[in-house]
Amino acid sequence: YVLGIDLGTSAVKVMLVGKDGTVHDEASKPLTLIQPQSGYSEQNPEEWYSQTVEAVKEIITRAPARSQDIEGLSFSGQMHGLVLLDENNDVLRPAILWNDTRTSKQCEHIHRIIGKEHLRELTGNEALEGFTLPKLLWVKEHEPDIFVETSYFLLPKDYVRLRITGKLHSEYSDAAGTIMLNKEKNEWSEEILHRLGIPAAICPPLVHSHAFVGEIQPSFAQATGLNEQTGAFAGGADNACGAIGSGVLSAGKSLCSIGTSGVLLSYQGEGKREVSGPLHLFHHGKAGAYYTMGVTLSAGQSLHWFKEQFAPDVDFETLLSNMSAKPGASGLLFTPYLSGERTPHSDAMIRGSFIGLDARHTRGHLTRAVIEGITFSLNETLQLLRDAGQEVDEIISIGGGPKVMLGYRFRRISSEPTFLHWKMNRVQVWEQRC
Ligand code: XUL
Repeated sequence: YVLGIDLGTSAVKVMLVGKDGTVHDEASKPLTLIQPQSGYSEQNPEEWYSQTVEAVKEIITRAPARSQDIEGLSFSGQMHGLVLLDENNDVLRPAILWNDTRTSKQCEHIHRIIGKEHLRELTGNEALEGFTLPKLLWVKEHEPDIFVETSYFLLPKDYVRLRITGKLHSEYSDAAGTIMLNKEKNEWSEEILHRLGIPAAICPPLVHSHAFVGEIQPSFAQATGLNEQTGAFAGGADNACGAIGSGVLSAGKSLCSIGTSGVLLSYQGEGKREVSGPLHLFHHGKAGAYYTMGVTLSAGQSLHWFKEQFAPDVDFETLLSNMSAKPGASGLLFTPYLSGERTPHSDAMIRGSFIGLDARHTRGHLTRAVIEGITFSLNETLQLLRDAGQEVDEIISIGGGPKVMLGYRFRRISSEPTFLHWKMNRVQVWEQRC
């Protein structure tokens, strides 16, 4: 067996998988989001680790004998988040997450100093609030005492791996999302670091996603019941891992992942490496390959927010069963910009809205408007990908979002609701109906 640890934003999920890909067990533990101000989004890295321990322990406790047969574990994780460590590898402040949009000024500064086009040449991306580099500059400016104490910065799942193995690394698929990685040379960009005053010494050593990092620490083995010889592998950014897991490994294949965020990404091989506008270009988990991607910051989060505020008494399935049946929600529109938007607007200040409310609208119409708002936002990325000349022949849909929708559409008849193959003609039918 192998254990997969996925550090999400709403929960850490652990899966026990056989070598043939069969899922034998899974456990999920919730994570707390700290939002002290509008646009701020933070988490406590200690909770990432303690909830990972709880989830692994739950799986081992259910079948203790199996722990001897678990040969390795690896990681997938929310991208871009900034963890700062002191010289003892202790965390200096709460992690600033991918959906935190406080860094508009720092993005402008990066573009002024490096130049938007040159930054794109170096990293494949423009500076956007969610990425790691602007967060580092924000800490440098607003919390200089913490910045000078920093020995290393890490990305979220790399911190959990550090706690589990005692080994400190970053890996390429996540490092790409910092916009400090030189995409051609596959190393931290000396030019970006030097010109923005970031000490190169705080950048962790880089490894590939498939790299063996070391065995787990005795403390983690004791806390979870795992065998001390269990090996740990580097893992990758959640979207890169999602792309591998769903077979997005050749031209034409694309992925739609709806968790807290909504992602549409499309495979790019080794050749073509330029994207434009608000699309991102990141390293795939498959060595040497890339993917192009757009992100809706509040996809699943919009539905979650709506349910919490307006339907706390029902579960998702009931909420969706009572959704107004007709596409279009009788003219009601929802924009899912609860914490600003990445693609296509690149706007940290934009906010969500219901537009066109009418006295005849019910909770069912509002629910449908939310689902449609999320879908159309993802469709905007789909259009951008196509306009950029990206082949999109097949979209494979993963994450909590499609699970919820499948529960609604097929009344849970399907016993394997996690992966829905969304053939392009179905997407077109959906577009026409809307
Ligand atoms: C990708 C992004 C999100 C996070 C969420 O650029 O910011 O999809 O990875 O986990």
